[in-house]
Amino acid sequence: MDLKFRAFTPSFFFSFLIIIFLIKKPDLGSASNPKCISTERQALQTFKQSLTDPSGRLSSWSGPDCCKWPGVRCDRRTSHVIKIDLRNRNQTVYPDEFKQNCLGGKIHPSLTHLKFLSYLDLSSNDFNGLEIPEFIGHMVSLRYLNLSFSSFSGEVPASLGNLSKLESLDLNIGSWPSFDMRASSLRWLSGLPRSLTYLNMGYELHLINCELNKLPLSSSLSSSANLKLLEVLELSENSFNSPIPNWLFDLTSLRKLSLQRAGLEGSIPSGIKKLKLLETLDMSNNGLTGEIPAVLGGLPQLKYIDLSINVYQGHIHRFLDAFSKNKENKLVYLNLRFNKLNGTLPESLGTLRNLQTLDLSTNSFSGSLPSSVGNMSSLKKLDISFNAMNGTIAESFGKLEELVELYLMENQWNGVLLKSHFVNLRSLKIIHLTTDPNRSLVINLPSTWVPPFRLKQINIENCKIGPTFPMWLQVQNKLNSVTLRNTGIADKIPHSWFSGIASHVTELILENNRIKGTLPQNLFFPKLNTIDLSSNNFEGPFPCWTTNATQLYLYQNNFSGSLPLNIDALMPSLERMYLFHNSFTGEIPSSLCEVTGLHILNLRNNRFSGSFPNCWQISSQLNGIDASENSISGKIPESLCEMPSLNVLLLNQNVLEGNIPDKFQNCSSLTHIDLGGNKLTGKLPSWLSKVLPLSMLRLQNNFFDGQIPDDLCNVQMLHILDLSENKLSGPIPKCISSLIAIAQGQSSEGFQKIVSRVTRTSKYQEMLDSINLSGNNITGEIPVEIFDLSYLRILNLSRNSIAGSIPGNISKLGHLETLDLSSNRFSGVIPHGLAEISSLHTLNLSYNKLEGSIPKRLKFEDPSIYIGNELLCGKQLPKKCPRKQQNAVLIN
Ligand SMILES: *[C@@H]1O[C@H](CO)[C@@H](O)[C@H](O)[C@H]1NC(C)=O
Ligand SMILES: *[C@@H]1O[C@H](CO)[C@@H](O)[C@H](O)[C@H]1NC(C)=O
Ligand SMILES: *[C@@H]1O[C@H](CO)[C@@H](O)[C@H](O)[C@H]1NC(C)=O
Ligand SMILES: *[C@@H]1O[C@H](CO)[C@@H](O)[C@H](O)[C@H]1NC(C)=O
Ligand SMILES: *[C@@H]1O[C@H](CO)[C@@H](O)[C@H](O)[C@H]1NC(C)=O
Ligand SMILES: *[C@@H]1O[C@H](CO)[C@@H](O)[C@H](O)[C@H]1NC(C)=O
Ligand SMILES: *[C@@H]1O[C@H](CO)[C@@H](O)[C@H](O)[C@H]1NC(C)=O
Ligand SMILES: *[C@@H]1O[C@H](CO)[C@@H](O)[C@H](O)[C@H]1NC(C)=O
Ligand SMILES: *[C@@H]1O[C@H](CO)[C@@H](O)[C@H](O)[C@H]1NC(C)=O
Repeated sequence: MDLKFRAFTPSFFFSFLIIIFLIKKPDLGSASNPKCISTERQALQTFKQSLTDPSGRLSSWSGPDCCKWPGVRCDRRTSHVIKIDLRNRNQTVYPDEFKQNCLGGKIHPSLTHLKFLSYLDLSSNDFNGLEIPEFIGHMVSLRYLNLSFSSFSGEVPASLGNLSKLESLDLNIGSWPSFDMRASSLRWLSGLPRSLTYLNMGYELHLINCELNKLPLSSSLSSSANLKLLEVLELSENSFNSPIPNWLFDLTSLRKLSLQRAGLEGSIPSGIKKLKLLETLDMSNNGLTGEIPAVLGGLPQLKYIDLSINVYQGHIHRFLDAFSKNKENKLVYLNLRFNKLNGTLPESLGTLRNLQTLDLSTNSFSGSLPSSVGNMSSLKKLDISFNAMNGTIAESFGKLEELVELYLMENQWNGVLLKSHFVNLRSLKIIHLTTDPNRSLVINLPSTWVPPFRLKQINIENCKIGPTFPMWLQVQNKLNSVTLRNTGIADKIPHSWFSGIASHVTELILENNRIKGTLPQNLFFPKLNTIDLSSNNFEGPFPCWTTNATQLYLYQNNFSGSLPLNIDALMPSLERMYLFHNSFTGEIPSSLCEVTGLHILNLRNNRFSGSFPNCWQISSQLNGIDASENSISGKIPESLCEMPSLNVLLLNQNVLEGNIPDKFQNCSSLTHIDLGGNKLTGKLPSWLSKVLPLSMLRLQNNFFDGQIPDDLCNVQMLHILDLSENKLSGPIPKCISSLIAIAQGQSSEGFQKIVSRVTRTSKYQEMLDSINLSGNNITGEIPVEIFDLSYLRILNLSRNSIAGSIPGNISKLGHLETLDLSSNRFSGVIPHGLAEISSLHTLNLSYNKLEGSIPKRLKFEDPSIYIGNELLCGKQLPKKCPRKQQNAVLIN
């Protein structure tokens, strides 16, 4: 009954049925019990013995009648073994269990004794890299051979080309194979018979030294027309690195052609029009160029086109027009995502009445969504995101009753969306609609209108919805993802809306509106991951929500009251917590120490008081703390340095007192410290030399005294040093030239990333490469070593007691922008070198003991930067220089 296998070709299906009916039925009974042929039984036994079989699947291969063995079938008339199906069908989710059921080991050549074997399926087993044995090519009765997903590897034997009856050959090794399979020549393919209807050598069959276009295959195939009956060809994930070979288009029975990620280049040749039966064309993820070929419009059966992730460019007008000529076109799926297509979307789009998925995202389309879109009555998914659509959205769009997913984000839409745009969208579940902030897209729906859809995802950004929180949003109680960012909503949101979505919402993002009112308390959000209510006018207490959310953004609101003492129980999974710019009061709860996954804690600019928690442990993962601009008192907590992960510590503008704890020498990963504007006392600590990665040290406006220690010079990564407004005395250390980050202009990019992630501002950016020692009692002369800091941008030494002259080689500071030496005891003349620093834009030399004339080339005219130097003269000052003296200085 060989006919059975002809069923693989649909055209034979009919005859198959009839023959069964006419011939087979009268036969019933007489030949119903095939008895195994003993030489074949022996062959099967030998075959079994060379296999490994951990789960004992073949344990019942023992009785005398091998035709009754599981997986074995014999011909009813001749009793010859015709079928062996040992596919592993155990679909357990546990890989170990799956492996248990796998056969493995060796395939014994005894199989070749089964002269009538036409079906061999060893798929989904584990042969652990075994090469496909050459003798399989001698089993010339085979019509079906499936060795897929079974960890075969190595060279595909060319002998397979001898299998002249083969109808189906599946050598697919899966997308994540642990072994490679390759065929160094495809010549043998041409030996395969005309009857072959299925060929899958998918995924990772490497065709070494075998560029398809150079193969003899190309000519032999087209001349012998060998694979004419092939219906499915999958050669995905190969590296052809060549244009599409023309011989492919001689396979005129092809229904499915899959060549994704195959390294194809150039354009699709017009020869493809010969594939009149083609239903599925997948050439995604290649390097195909040119216009999307209009010739595809002439393929009457085409249902599925995936040309995504190529480098197609230009317009799609001709392509779509070709489809519109064929009013009966069957296209269901069109994916052109991630190309370089541009121009407008043509009206001919509307002729794709069967289309269910249209993905044009990540191209450069512009213009409007055409009004014909309303005629695509089967459309379920429309994706035009990430384009340059700068027109309007046609009203007819509201006719798409089947539409489920709508992705229009990242464009430059404008215009007004009315009720008619949405009125029939009863299937809509997902809407993503964002435009550019400089455009105007208004969603103007009647404020009490109840829409026919219940959304699962809404993401609307930079489109005007407000000022009210409209009914069409209020009724959305199935939402699992909400983003309404910059939509002009200035209303209260009913508490019932929050409680309605609490059980399923994963993201709640209402950033940058003017939403007012309070939040409901004591809700349970089992799925929430991100809470972003920042930049609104919310007021009232902190939302005591029970949630495993990792992100909490409440900044820039009017929240007040204290934080819940059990915040670790309410929100145990928090990783980032930004509460800055609110009016929170009370103590910072020490239960925060128990939120061990917390990375960033930003409490800046509130009214927190009491001392900062001192319960930090080695298991905490805090990376950045910004608790500046509060009223935090007491000492700097020693336990902060228990955390090996702490990079950024900003406690400035508080009322902290006492010393910086010696424990700080354990803070081996601190990169940014700002403790300015407190009441800290003591000497500048010896711990400094230990905190090597430090790139910002700001201790300004405290009561530190003593000298600047040489230890400071070991902090070689420093980009910002501010010790101003303390009681420091003694000279500037000569070793200062070893601050190599400033001396060598090392990149501060990483610096910026870390600190701006914690603060969500770029406020420290403008302080980069600055040294501020002003407002102390520093004495001695300026050390010339300081001029080795070539990349210094800002140097402020004002209001100290520094004496001596301003050295002429100050011009080595070639990046200096601001120099303030005012209110010191500098004497001598202003060096000409100063005028050579072209980047200098702010200068103050007032109140010193400078003398002589202001150098002519110094382009600073404001007299206030020179005053208080009695012996100084110049055109900027009331005291003009005598002509002679000016000349004398110039000659020097
Ligand atoms: C799959 O394999 C597991 C482990 O060997 C076995 O317990 C289970 O019964 C098998 N399932 C099927 C459907 O054969
Ligand atoms: C080969 O076997 C695999 C699974 O074991 C199956 O998914 C695939 O459809 C089979 N190939 C053919 C052509 O029947
Ligand atoms: C089978 O194929 C191999 C390799 O292509 C060839 O050398 C051999 O002659 C073929 N054998 C038969 C019996 O056709
Ligand atoms: C579209 O792309 C083509 C080819 O890249 C380019 O020549 C043409 O100027 C583009 N047209 C528009 C409107 O951007
Ligand atoms: C939509 O289809 C109707 C009926 O075929 C046709 O009359 C109309 O012109 C089409 N609309 C657009 C905008 O293509
Ligand atoms: C939209 O963009 C296209 C292509 O950049 C441009 O030619 C056209 O003038 C723009 N239209 C509007 C209304 O901005
Ligand atoms: C709006 O701003 C974007 C950049 O953010 C720019 O590409 C676009 O051309 C602007 N559009 C208009 C209409 O100004
Ligand atoms: C958070 O996760 C824990 C552990 O998976 C779970 O027991 C708890 O119920 C979750 N809490 C919420 C609010 O979903
Ligand atoms: C600054 O230091 C000098 C030298 O140590 C001392 O004479 C002077 O009084 C100090 N000035 C102030 C304001 O502390």
